[in-house]
Amino acid sequence: MQTDKTVSTGCRYREWTSLLLTAILCFSFIVYLYLYVDTTNITKAITFFKNIQGDPQFVGISGQSTLYPWKQRELIKNRTKPLLTLFTSWLDTEDKYLVHNITSVNWLALRPFVVPIVFTNEAAVGKVYARAGWLVLPVRVAAADGVPVLKYMYLDAMKQFESDFYTYVNSDILFTNTLVDTLIEILQNNQTFHNSAQSNSTSQHHTLIIGRRTNVFNITMEEGSSWSELTKVAKKKGELFRSDAEDYFITSSSYPWIDIPEVVIGRRAYDNWLVMNARKQKHQVIDASETILAVHQTTKDGNYEGMKKKTKEHNHNLLVTLYKNVQYSLGVTECAEYQTTINTGKISIIFRTNLATYCRIQ
Ligand SMILES: *[C@@H]1O[C@H](CO)[C@@H](O)[C@H](O)[C@H]1NC(C)=O
Ligand SMILES: *[C@@H]1O[C@H](CO)[C@@H](O)[C@H](O)[C@H]1NC(C)=O
Ligand SMILES: *[C@@H]1O[C@H](CO)[C@@H](O)[C@H](O)[C@H]1NC(C)=O
Ligand SMILES: *[C@@H]1O[C@H](CO)[C@@H](O)[C@H](O)[C@H]1NC(C)=O
Ligand SMILES: *[C@@H]1O[C@H](CO)[C@@H](O)[C@H](O)[C@H]1NC(C)=O
Repeated sequence: MQTDKTVSTGCRYREWTSLLLTAILCFSFIVYLYLYVDTTNITKAITFFKNIQGDPQFVGISGQSTLYPWKQRELIKNRTKPLLTLFTSWLDTEDKYLVHNITSVNWLALRPFVVPIVFTNEAAVGKVYARAGWLVLPVRVAAADGVPVLKYMYLDAMKQFESDFYTYVNSDILFTNTLVDTLIEILQNNQTFHNSAQSNSTSQHHTLIIGRRTNVFNITMEEGSSWSELTKVAKKKGELFRSDAEDYFITSSSYPWIDIPEVVIGRRAYDNWLVMNARKQKHQVIDASETILAVHQTTKDGNYEGMKKKTKEHNHNLLVTLYKNVQYSLGVTECAEYQTTINTGKISIIFRTNLATYCRIQ
């Protein structure tokens, strides 16, 4: 009996152990699977977080600016106004959702130095971007079948928000901290420039900063939301676009936009006219191509979207009516009298001593 009992107990015992073992195995397997899947996520999350917090070049999705602390301290000092009011406008189309979402994250990351604004009369766009942290203003004046007139965007932005600089930028352009770094330098340089009386004309108090863009195909959210990634893809896959295409027009707060003709955005000719006019008016025109990285999100629509529109000649026709003969070639980036340059990390503004002959204003 004893033996039987032992045997049967042993047997039961063995059954128990194997059951327990199976259970443990099963449990471990589930835990392992869970952990495996989860750790890949955790690793991703950690990398992501490390990027946001540790890498000063990184733009957080939260939109918090992570500029170099010394620069932040230096600039914030006792200032209350932002450096730049940055505005754009677009018509809501599904095939541009990703492009605009990337722009949204990219521009928000330049806060608090930069204030992004979208001009729109479309409630859906206004709602989404206001929630994301953009400011939203209505398009007050439009032409050419509903395209915003450039000057009123500037005038409205200047009236409603105080900053050192203002600029319209095409909605598919992405920036890095080089935008902020360059503007800080120009601002600081401006004081020395005017104190040393190099300029004795008041028109030199008006500044226009322009530059060339770099085209990059099929930018992803990951690339567009990180300054270091964006810099990397621009270097690897980017192509510096032609020097007669200007996508941003950064002007000082006193700039006489009131006198500019009613050209619209997104149609050719106005960019070169603006630069040419500024040169003729003897404003301080600065080509910042060398220090501001402006990446164009090129999609399947290519690099000449405005040329496919029915009203593509709106600006040219208007300018020719007003001024007859318009020499657009005087308004290419390399004709700017000043340029920014960078030397071992230090940005400076230099006078261009030998402009090309085609830059000469008769
Ligand atoms: C900032 O403002 C405070 C108080 O007005 C002043 O004491 C300080 O010197 C200012 N700092 C700079 C860098 O201007
Ligand atoms: C981008 O934004 C639009 C709305 O503006 C939204 O419907 C869409 O899902 C967003 N995401 C992507 C990746 O396009
Ligand atoms: C203004 O500056 C130019 C050179 O930049 C100089 O030739 C001219 O004499 C100056 N005029 C006055 C009134 O100082
Ligand atoms: C970009 O993506 C499109 C598909 O939307 C593809 O046809 C095209 O080849 C891509 N271009 C490059 C340069 O990767
Ligand atoms: C540069 O200085 C002049 C003279 O003080 C001023 O009128 C102008 O607004 C300044 N420009 C910028 C961009 O601050």
